[in-house]
Amino acid sequence: MHTKDFLSIADLSNTDLQLLLAEAVELKAKGWNHALSDKTLALILEKPSLRTRISFELAMRQLGGQAIYLSPAEVGLGRRESVADIARTLSRYADIIVARTFSQQTLEELGHYADIPVVNALSDEEHPCQCLADLLTILEYKGTLKGLTLAFVGDGNNVAASLALGCGLSGMNFKIASPAGYELNSTIVERAQIMAETSGAEIICNHDPYLAVQGADIVYTDTWTSMGQEAETEKRLKDFIGYQVDSALMAIADRNAIFMHCLPAHRGQEVSEEVIESRVSVVFDQAENRLHAQKAVLVQLLGGAGILPDYR
Ligand code: CP
Ligand code: NVA
Repeated sequence: MHTKDFLSIADLSNTDLQLLLAEAVELKAKGWNHALSDKTLALILEKPSLRTRISFELAMRQLGGQAIYLSPAEVGLGRRESVADIARTLSRYADIIVARTFSQQTLEELGHYADIPVVNALSDEEHPCQCLADLLTILEYKGTLKGLTLAFVGDGNNVAASLALGCGLSGMNFKIASPAGYELNSTIVERAQIMAETSGAEIICNHDPYLAVQGADIVYTDTWTSMGQEAETEKRLKDFIGYQVDSALMAIADRNAIFMHCLPAHRGQEVSEEVIESRVSVVFDQAENRLHAQKAVLVQLLGGAGILPDYR
């Protein structure tokens, strides 16, 4: 990988992405190894997590290294101590920082001051590790990324942003349908469109779920209320009426379409019980692939290509 930090899908070149996916496939097949036997990861999560915490901790364990979880209350990012001082202190103990923060700005500050790599484990703007796991999952089910169409129905949030960039980078068409006022950030759309021009993909934003999903190979949704937005829950429940991925919507997707969700899911809101429990739902493959995709990220950021011969 050509970057020190992994804070956005836009940090990756197409070559980086292909390398990470190939590495993830290999690491998934290989299981436990000693690639990072002398390495320590510092994990800071400012918001709740199930998948992210267990998958990063397990990833380090399976690579022979260790992860140390630092609770946000103890660390007090930017409150008990400045982000800059925390970054420089952790750089003296650990080999990599993985952080879930309210603000992307905090991650960028961590990255700026840390001598060691910093990985975005979800921020207000992006969820790049989720996107990598999702691309790996799509690759497993469809055998390719380029030329496919991913329809995202719902909030133009962090998960949608990373997917738009991931699609732009990999040559997958990205169609998003969001209610008015909940569209994907225009900077992300522009960035994804620039990437898409090179990869040959289309990035299309509208308000009509049926237009987005028509003929799509992948139908994706996420919560209508992200962490930190809980005060808006009632308003959002009303504003997102008509944006549930249900069987009627899935019926107009491609006949071999898969359903995806990063989890946690809210049945009866963004997705119907019937769809998430259907045979086309791959949500637990996505959850598992967080582990494998993140192992690839860790190996790349901590060892690079030079590490490969050692653990093969
Ligand atoms: N998808 C995801 O990031 O899950 P957690 O919030 O449980 O980590
Ligand atoms: N968009 C969601 C994703 C959770 C993994 C959130 O930020 O809460």
